[in-house]
Amino acid sequence: MSGFKVAILGATGAVGREMMRVLEERDFPVDELVPLASARSEGEKLEFGDGEVTVHEVSAKAFAGCDLALFSAGAQVSRQWAPVAAAQGVYVIDNSSAFRGEPDIPLVVPEVNPETVPLAEKRRIIANPNCSTIQMVVALKPLHDAATLRRIVVSTYQAVSGKGQKGIDELEKQISDLMNCRESTNSAFVHRIAFNVIPHIDDFADDGSGYTKEEMKMVNETRRIMSIPDLPVSATCVRIPLFFGHSEAVNAAFEKPLSPDEARTLLKRAPGIKVLDDPANNIYPMPMLASGDTAVHVGRIRTDRSQKNGLDMFICADNLRKGAALNAVQIAELLVEKGMVRGCGDGCGCRH
Ligand SMILES: NC(=O)c1ccc[n+]([C@@H]2O[C@H](COP(=O)([O-])OP(=O)(O)OC[C@H]3O[C@@H](n4cnc5c(N)ncnc54)[C@H](OP(=O)(O)O)[C@@H]3O)[C@@H](O)[C@H]2O)c1
Repeated sequence: MSGFKVAILGATGAVGREMMRVLEERDFPVDELVPLASARSEGEKLEFGDGEVTVHEVSAKAFAGCDLALFSAGAQVSRQWAPVAAAQGVYVIDNSSAFRGEPDIPLVVPEVNPETVPLAEKRRIIANPNCSTIQMVVALKPLHDAATLRRIVVSTYQAVSGKGQKGIDELEKQISDLMNCRESTNSAFVHRIAFNVIPHIDDFADDGSGYTKEEMKMVNETRRIMSIPDLPVSATCVRIPLFFGHSEAVNAAFEKPLSPDEARTLLKRAPGIKVLDDPANNIYPMPMLASGDTAVHVGRIRTDRSQKNGLDMFICADNLRKGAALNAVQIAELLVEKGMVRGCGDGCGCRH
């Protein structure tokens, strides 16, 4: 097997740049990288490997000969361009919410439901779940396999990079403005985020439920990825003034009893997880530790004394990595492992 021709749509964004770093770190066999973005970025140079690659505006012909395309340019862009790329035989791994609810498009977290990847053979699109959902299901899957989940209540503490580069820029500028006694303004977030906490991520759902769309993504995507269609899940998603790393306080109820020690043992054995749980020595997950790491960090595991078979825990992960870029590259690796993409070495995308 030789390498692949890989397009990244959204290459200039927070997730797109991380995708390039993750491809390099994991030695994913890239023969040619095709960085794509909007017309605003035409001609921009990005570092990749030992050299530079030039960004081009997305177009149908930009996907010619590609084996894989990693999309991270928002749902509208994905809806427009994923079918165009897929029609040329390219496997699209999409980070947006555009296709996550479509039954014939798999929604994949490699540690949890890798067996669903072949479902992508028909439409050649695979959806990458929401960042907060990914880290939660990675941690809950081994516990569910042992004790069967009955209900989840989750509160999130989400970094501004979840809103992309504009979220990072806005927090940086607001901190600087406020520290220099200047008025601060906001546009990426509906309120000032610096020195504040906003219990509102994405729009409020149109159904009058009071939940936001981000919260409903956690409900619906968790049910789908874990294959528990009627699992009761209640989420509160909160934006905090931190640049990188999402955290979650998770309360989970199970059919069978599961002690904190048993949970720690199961989590230590599970792929993609680091257990940090030694409160006596002040060791527990924090976004400061998870940011830049590939693993989902789990700790503060304790029995929920208010209900039968309940556990509480705290989960942190790097939202740009496991929450987006790393998960997408792991899906690409699965496609290769399963022989669904096979580079032929000349970058023609023919999948011999
Ligand atoms: N940030 C996270 O933690 C996270 C996690 C999971 C999933 N996601 C999803 O990943 C996607 C990107 O997020 P991000 O955080 O990387 O956002 P971002 O930093 O704002 O980057 C957006 C990227 O999309 C490109 N783009 C925007 N409009 C375009 C258009 N009309 N045509 C072509 N390219 C266009 C931008 O190109 P220009 O530079 O040319 O404007 C940029 O490369 C979103 O769907 C988001 O929901 C993000």
